[in-house]
Amino acid sequence: MEFQLETNPFSQIAADILVLGVFLDESVGETIRKLDPDFPLDFAQSIDEICLGEGFTGKTAQTVHLPTYGRISAGKLILRGLGKSGDYCTAIIRKSVAGLARRLTAGCVLNRVSFCLPKISSSRQIQAAVEGWILGSYNFDKYKCLSDNHKKSSAPSALSFVAFQDIRDFGDGVRRAEAIASACNFARDLIAEPAAFMTPTRLAEAAQSLSCGQVTCKILDAADTEKLGMGAFLGVARGAEEPPRFIVLKYSHPEASKSVVIVGKGITFDSGGLSLKTSQGMENMKYDMAGAAVVIAVMKAVCQLKPRLTLTAVAAATENMPSGRAIHPGDVLFAMNGKSIEVNNTDAEGRLVLADALCYAAAQKPDEIIDVATLTGAVVTALGRACAGIMGNSDELIGKVIGSALAAGEKLWQLPLLDEYKDSLKSEIADLKNAGSKGEAPSSCAGMFLKEFVNGCPWAHLDIAGPAWSDKEKDELNKGGTAFGVRTLCYYLTAEG
Ligand code: BES
Ligand code: MN
Ligand code: ZN
Repeated sequence: MEFQLETNPFSQIAADILVLGVFLDESVGETIRKLDPDFPLDFAQSIDEICLGEGFTGKTAQTVHLPTYGRISAGKLILRGLGKSGDYCTAIIRKSVAGLARRLTAGCVLNRVSFCLPKISSSRQIQAAVEGWILGSYNFDKYKCLSDNHKKSSAPSALSFVAFQDIRDFGDGVRRAEAIASACNFARDLIAEPAAFMTPTRLAEAAQSLSCGQVTCKILDAADTEKLGMGAFLGVARGAEEPPRFIVLKYSHPEASKSVVIVGKGITFDSGGLSLKTSQGMENMKYDMAGAAVVIAVMKAVCQLKPRLTLTAVAAATENMPSGRAIHPGDVLFAMNGKSIEVNNTDAEGRLVLADALCYAAAQKPDEIIDVATLTGAVVTALGRACAGIMGNSDELIGKVIGSALAAGEKLWQLPLLDEYKDSLKSEIADLKNAGSKGEAPSSCAGMFLKEFVNGCPWAHLDIAGPAWSDKEKDELNKGGTAFGVRTLCYYLTAEG
């Protein structure tokens, strides 16, 4: 797939499909004539008439397909509404291109597609557009049989963008987008796989496949983690037949200016353990490893983007299963930092595996720790699927991550970590218990629990239980595992300054 800058005048763009982005309530004919005075006047006028007839006003995602009858070089013209010009930003560019990519790649054979979006003049905008294209054309069809009603999608061979000024770093924008968006699709594949396939062992193999000159991969098995004292992680793993894997990927740049550890929750299936979930509650619980998929995928992008830092990605991978060997409610586990935890609910397993993963992260003495986890159902109730919760012990770090999320087109909302809520984690027989029993502020309480294991290191926690999964397909959103968090972390880790 090739991405190019389009330099021809609008009427001479030789594409199979030419897409024109249109703001709300602007005259399409006039816009086109301004773009290219040589555009046939009568054709421009008839386009305006068609828009009027079709009720096309340029509202977000409105789309009109027009034949060109050989009047211009493009085979077909698509008008795509972009909404109000005042709301225009990279997120709109990404969404718009993604929404069209899904339609255009589904089942038809195209060679050249060209996008003419207003005001494109920077590599950041190009990056958003290319990200949109790659994210929007994603499709997980590994298990779909080739029948008539399932047509394999095909990608065009070239995609071009009209720019309104010379973009010298066009190639950089394309490269950043390709690295980040293909990392998202890599994570989506890992999450889409059924739990029977995507075991901790397979997840570790996926991580291992990223090893290269700058990246080393270390896989710890149960015995290795036992030696490190990871009793909380091993407690969760005890009920499962599938062996657990503690995955550590390390990237280092020779001129690293800071060190960051990213930590992912990797429950490849969360049945709840003996505190068993309902059938409905566990229906999609293969996605409880989304945090792990995200940190592994971020490492994949970082290998290509080569930011100046040291990055460690840690993924604690195990199933959470009920069995004769499973931990019982009431059992006491010891985390790597020596703290004892009474397990009053085996379904609050994410914070148990993260406890050891955060201890391991803190022991590296990094400048920052960021964890990503599908941690609580309550965050879905509070914030829905459009945004993730963020909390932590450093408002400075949280502020920077929220800023990167905004640039990446992902939404984060801060939840408080309050000392007042620490009481809910008090245990009669251990240092802590793993779940509050009153159901008050469960997402914050989970955060308060995690805080006990970061040893004071600046830390942010992303509870992605909501946006990590989508039931609908829209713009850059696919159905199933979305890879939410990959873009935010990639933007954050590669931000300058
Ligand atoms: N993996 C779940 C959280 C979850 C729920 C993610 C729904 C996505 C959708 C987590 O392990 C869990 O079960 N959390 C419990 C905690 C409770 C027992 C304190 C929850 O949220 O119910
Ligand atoms: Mn659970
Ligand atoms: Zn879970």
